[in-house]
Amino acid sequence: MRAITWHGKGDMRCETVPDPIIEDGRDAIIKVTACAICGSDLHLMNGVIPSMESGDVVGHECMGEVVEVGRDNKKLKVGDRVVVPFTISCGECFFCTRGFFSGCERSNPNKGMAEKLWGHSPAALFGYSHILGGIPGGQAEYVRVPYADVGPIKVPDGLTDEQVLFLSDIFPTGYMGADFCGLKGGETVAVWGCGPVGQMAIRSCFLLGAERVIAIDTVPERLAMARAAGAETLDFKEVDVYEAIQERTKGRGADACIDAVGTEADATASFDSVIDRVKTATFLGTDRPHVLRQAIHCCRNFGTVSIIGVYGGFLDKIPFGSAVNRGLTFKMAQTPVQHYLPILMERIQKGEIDPSFVITHRAGLEDAPDLYKTFRDKKDGCIKVVLKP
Ligand SMILES: NC(=O)c1ccc[n+]([C@@H]2O[C@H](COP(=O)([O-])OP(=O)(O)OC[C@H]3O[C@@H](n4cnc5c(N)ncnc54)[C@H](O)[C@@H]3O)[C@@H](O)[C@H]2O)c1
Ligand SMILES: [Zn+2]
Ligand SMILES: [Zn+2]
Repeated sequence: MRAITWHGKGDMRCETVPDPIIEDGRDAIIKVTACAICGSDLHLMNGVIPSMESGDVVGHECMGEVVEVGRDNKKLKVGDRVVVPFTISCGECFFCTRGFFSGCERSNPNKGMAEKLWGHSPAALFGYSHILGGIPGGQAEYVRVPYADVGPIKVPDGLTDEQVLFLSDIFPTGYMGADFCGLKGGETVAVWGCGPVGQMAIRSCFLLGAERVIAIDTVPERLAMARAAGAETLDFKEVDVYEAIQERTKGRGADACIDAVGTEADATASFDSVIDRVKTATFLGTDRPHVLRQAIHCCRNFGTVSIIGVYGGFLDKIPFGSAVNRGLTFKMAQTPVQHYLPILMERIQKGEIDPSFVITHRAGLEDAPDLYKTFRDKKDGCIKVVLKP
């Protein structure tokens, strides 16, 4: 089959690889009808996620038709149309039974690697490094889904691929970011990053009762999309973000701050972001957490910092004193997608949101290597790429 593979920094290819086969009775094989490129895939492409190997099949946002089912899988049938969550979860362990699906303690076959770096292992993810399982991803014609009697959700009739595809990742992720803010109605939320995840977070904040959203980025079409959702916008290259948020919140700060940027924050002129760039470029640091620092700084006393952008290692110069002395709450996760799926499928069915608004580019797998670059460089108005294998 054809699939997108990783071959080192900046080198994504469309290649022929072996077809996946059933390896466990609970597996299913899905013929992929639509998949997408995520901002997290850019961290792979940019070489900032450790333990990738040349030839790894990537992709963790996908959906399609079931073409083969393992003998112990009682939930799926050949022909079912499903969306596949990016997190792989057994459904039975301590964490899965408590709804913390992305903390599944069984699905990562390379647990030991993760325990060395992080103390404990989270769930395995599709197409996202060997430390997170080395499971081949879904930017491919076919994908093997482990524990396929837990993850995939069947698509009700009448919904198109594009309406439901983002249930695999960015919609639940953006929604979780807003959910973490504990909104009761009337709040002002600041959202850093107007990429696809930020866009879902902005709309989710309004769905959950925020009165105002202040969205921060520098890419004009992304800021325009945020305004179309009802957000006020700040260009971090034009204004001092802290001063601008102070002005808009009577000097108090935002009730909640969502970091939807993560480890590869753009270096603005600020001193700390320049240091981050130097340290990561010389392998003295692992992440560039400029946005996280700014989000802490801009959050009001006893507010919440919700972190949905991905970080990998040991973060430097986090203003913890500010957080402790002012009583901030931190919430963060790789999204426990299965926890949010039923609620969000229902919101799509009721017409409360159509996540396909974010799509700007559609193509086949062969064009994916070029589109990775277009998405990375934010060229050609690119906000979200959907691939149809
Ligand atoms: N927690 C999860 O489960 C989960 C799931 C999906 C994606 N993610 C992460 O979410 C993040 C965003 O993903 P995406 O697909 O939207 O990626 P993206 O790269 O398209 O978007 C990031 C945006 O942040 C903006 N940005 C960069 N520096 C900034 C700064 N200093 N201030 C404000 N904005 C800045 C960029 O211009 C860009 O528009 C990534 O880190 C991704 O790995 C996490
Ligand atoms: Zn993702
Ligand atoms: Zn589990």
